[in-house]
Amino acid sequence: MNESTLQSALSNPQNLGEMPDADSVGTVGSPDCGDMVRMWLKYKEKDGKKVIDKASFQSFGCQTAIAVASLATELIRGKTKEEALLMSAEELSAPLGPLPPMKIHCGQMVEGALKAALEAESNTPSAPVVGSSQPTGPTLVDSLHAAGKSAGKIKIVMRS
Ligand code: FES
Repeated sequence: MNESTLQSALSNPQNLGEMPDADSVGTVGSPDCGDMVRMWLKYKEKDGKKVIDKASFQSFGCQTAIAVASLATELIRGKTKEEALLMSAEELSAPLGPLPPMKIHCGQMVEGALKAALEAESNTPSAPVVGSSQPTGPTLVDSLHAAGKSAGKIKIVMRS
């Protein structure tokens, strides 16, 4: 794993925080460690296509999950929903180099949150962005409490 990229992503994480005007949001919890990531997406029209204008995230996860989420929110900008859906955890974490086996699920959790947010977006890919698909939901803290984080293994996918 590329430690300097990891450290720079952690010392200056990009797109960290809730996005109040998002078009969609997705949340996934890892069954491996009980951590969670939530990702928000905002679309725009560009050259007749609907593309991701910006993305943001919140994470109750390890440093690797935060770093991958930060990198992912940058990598998916300008991509269509279909292009972003094709991105694997390996691609999203590529700037960090290969993740050690114990950290592979961290990237997969980010991929899961991205896919949940992409699939929560109800408009057809080429349609103009209209309104919002209820991007606000329970806070991540609420979700953690509801999931009973201390209970250990959880897997939650919310599409509100
Ligand atoms: Fe659980 Fe990294 S997200 S250890």
